[in-house]
Amino acid sequence: MNEFKALVVRENESKITHQIEQINEDMLSEGNVLIKVMYSSVNYKDMLAVQAKGGVVRNYPMIPGIDLSGEIVKSEDPKFSVGQKVLVTGYKMGMTKTGGFSEYAKVPSSWVIPLPDKLTLKNAMVYGTAGFTAALSINELEKNGMKDNLNSRILVTGATGGVGSISLQILSKIGYTNITAIVRKTKQIEVAKKLGANNVILLEDFDFSKKLLAEEKFDYILDTVGGELISKLLPYVSYQGSVSLCGNAGGNKLDTTVLPFILRGINLLGIDSVNVSNEIRLSVWNKLSDDWDVADSLLFNEVSFNELSDTLNSLKEGKHLGRSIVRINEV
Ligand SMILES: NC(=O)c1ccc[n+]([C@@H]2O[C@H](COP(=O)([O-])OP(=O)(O)OC[C@H]3O[C@@H](n4cnc5c(N)ncnc54)[C@H](OP(=O)(O)O)[C@@H]3O)[C@@H](O)[C@H]2O)c1
Repeated sequence: MNEFKALVVRENESKITHQIEQINEDMLSEGNVLIKVMYSSVNYKDMLAVQAKGGVVRNYPMIPGIDLSGEIVKSEDPKFSVGQKVLVTGYKMGMTKTGGFSEYAKVPSSWVIPLPDKLTLKNAMVYGTAGFTAALSINELEKNGMKDNLNSRILVTGATGGVGSISLQILSKIGYTNITAIVRKTKQIEVAKKLGANNVILLEDFDFSKKLLAEEKFDYILDTVGGELISKLLPYVSYQGSVSLCGNAGGNKLDTTVLPFILRGINLLGIDSVNVSNEIRLSVWNKLSDDWDVADSLLFNEVSFNELSDTLNSLKEGKHLGRSIVRINEV
């Protein structure tokens, strides 16, 4: 194969740099499937991957990109055929194995998900890991009883963030009618309502004074914030309610007592999008392409491969708005 373009992160005299380079197949990690990448998406983790001490990349040079969609070019696994449309998210991709910010990617076939019929390569990346994580969270909450009552009292934290905003839209699309969003800024109230929240609470107005057990306000919490916020919310979960935890935007520390667990029987459900089984991946991506399909209403901007570096820099500076997908090869 001829040379092709990839965004390469290098370590030079303990400085971390990244730029688009012409590379060849030898620079790609081992894998029995070669994919022509059509789209990737820009995640916080990808921004960390191009920073010194970002904690994401350990071996250099590295090609970041934790998400990709594209077409099979070569496959040593009979399960996949040349030209087949596929997507890959998570595993070690873009961290310790080369990832999606490359015109071609090589991965083990066990990481590859056939693109569901109703999903386009572009929409797969409009969801990306954020959408997949939102859907995984809803899937777990539904497995724990949320599905039995469309009027369940559901709270979404970090509601205008990547995972939270997609969660609100999916929950609303499924038909849940009692969705509350919690936000930090007044201007986010209207945004959360437009995304599908039936009620919105401004964080500063919520009464967190009851510390051990409080009024049973929520049957299910889809949490994306972690830290202090979810610690303070656990006493408000109703009898046998469930809380999905996917993030640590508000910190790693979970400060709780056993009381909500032993007196109310609540469940804490951990969500991991990186190593979750392919069986669950397939089922959740199928839902995202069908009954839960909100791709056409998600806000995103599309950047070219040449604009990727600027997008990663603006994410670092906190100037980046919404989600971005990257057009890697011209479709
Ligand atoms: N488990 C997994 O596999 C997985 C996959 C994807 C993402 N994640 C994690 O999930 C989390 C959310 O991801 P994301 O893409 O949605 O991030 P994001 O777009 O940055 O959104 C974070 C949200 O959390 C809110 N927030 C941050 N700190 C807060 C605090 N101290 N109190 C209250 N709200 C706070 C933000 O509110 P403002 O808008 O007011 O700042 C924003 O709404 C991240 O921690 C991410 O690493 C995990």
